[in-house]
Amino acid sequence: MSRARITLDRDFTIGEVPRRLFGSFVEHMGRCVYTGIYEPGHPEADENGFRQDVMKLVKELGATVIRYPGGNFVSGYNWEDGIGPVSERPRRLDGAWHTVETNAFGLHEFVDWSKQAGTEIMEAINLGTRGVDAAREIVEYANHPGGTYLSDLRAKNGHKDPFNIKLWCLGNELDGPWQIGHKTADEYGRLAQEAAKAMRFVDPSLELVACGSSSSSMPTFGAWEQTVLTHTYDEVDYVSLHAYYQEHEGDVGSFLASAVDTDYFIESVIATADAVRAKGKHKKHINLSFDEWNVWYQRGLDTEDQPHNVAKAGWREHPRVIEDKYNVTDAVVVGTLLNSLLRHGDRVKIANQAQLVNVIAPILSEENGPAWKQTIFHPFARMAELAKGQILRLSVDSDKYSNARFGDTDLVDVSATWNEETGRVALFFANRGLEEAADVEVSLRGFDARQVLRAEVLEIPEGGDRLTINSQDQPGRVGLTALEGVKATGSELRLTLPALSWAVVELDVVKA
Ligand code: AHR
Repeated sequence: MSRARITLDRDFTIGEVPRRLFGSFVEHMGRCVYTGIYEPGHPEADENGFRQDVMKLVKELGATVIRYPGGNFVSGYNWEDGIGPVSERPRRLDGAWHTVETNAFGLHEFVDWSKQAGTEIMEAINLGTRGVDAAREIVEYANHPGGTYLSDLRAKNGHKDPFNIKLWCLGNELDGPWQIGHKTADEYGRLAQEAAKAMRFVDPSLELVACGSSSSSMPTFGAWEQTVLTHTYDEVDYVSLHAYYQEHEGDVGSFLASAVDTDYFIESVIATADAVRAKGKHKKHINLSFDEWNVWYQRGLDTEDQPHNVAKAGWREHPRVIEDKYNVTDAVVVGTLLNSLLRHGDRVKIANQAQLVNVIAPILSEENGPAWKQTIFHPFARMAELAKGQILRLSVDSDKYSNARFGDTDLVDVSATWNEETGRVALFFANRGLEEAADVEVSLRGFDARQVLRAEVLEIPEGGDRLTINSQDQPGRVGLTALEGVKATGSELRLTLPALSWAVVELDVVKA
């Protein structure tokens, strides 16, 4: 049995939980939109074609803000193709994913869907093949009240009231050579600066995200942020980060420690943004938008849904693309990535798990068939539900294990929040130990624990192993079950985490 001793203190807080940390992402990619959130003719679809079985799961997931419409897709997308009568919308080739885009679903449909889902929109614009003009025009179309050509066109297309979209991404991953319209940092920085200015001339209330690096291993990482923020500092509010993790050649130890990279990535971007702030003598801080993150098996698989095989199969409408099936290990890693985001909630204000349905997603759906939860659904949904109020600063003294990529790493990973209004403390744990359970002791300084309100665990199910997944036939094989033996008395909490597990404990507390 390994051991971890954690101390938290009511007076040591990091800041308020940014509710936008529990964001997700809908891209026109594979079956995320078509046969994912939208499938007219499906027995569960409403009159708009929105699948209500998927909608129910989206609501249970608790995503707060959803990025749309891409991703790589947006860098070749004309937003005008997705407005007006559906029968008149053009069919286009999507070069990013080598598929045919019908444009049956576009901006109006996404606005209606978001309203039903109760989620905020984070709209990405195309700065790959397009520029300043398209950027200001989509803002006028979406947000101007009326009396101009574009705002009246919106009304004619069925939405008299403005969409009032506040949050906008200035392009996607333009540091990546794979991107349509890939740019150098100087080229992108200048374009983003001018696009931002023009967008704000139309609507000064916008919040804008500049593209940062597509991962911490990009050769331009660091220099890219420095150059881009030097051009855009006054015009933008956030810089983006993207990161995907996977198990490489059976090195599960390093995979389980992926959040060490997330911590490094976040802290490096904060340092770079603050260095640009100092050099430019700026007053405001640039915050972080971690607007794509997840586990994604990019290498080592050669299945039909890998992008190169999708491309070989020719131009098709919404083929299966990267429909990863997530196992117990992946869910534990996702729990640690969420912990990293939450622990940095003073600067990471937005985060979007990529993506929402079918494409590397917590929810899977079959055409004309059911929808179900993947393993990674559970840590996300519980944290989105319970991480409210203040983020608590933790002191963690955990036994360690050694792994090839990150060296000595804590076996127990944790984050915690305190909601003063409801009198609840929530703790989110992961045990990276593959064989060993972990004995955890938490000292709750400044609190008196009155009751354990909830104690749940995600672990290897009976008869399964660390690679066990949920499937259409067994949608509930991996889920949350009661965590037995959790004891909270006064200022002490004790529990045992099973080997390779993710767990949540919610306590009813009063101030001590
Ligand atoms: O989420 C899948 C893809 O990953 C996105 O389109 C792109 O932005 C990233 O490389």
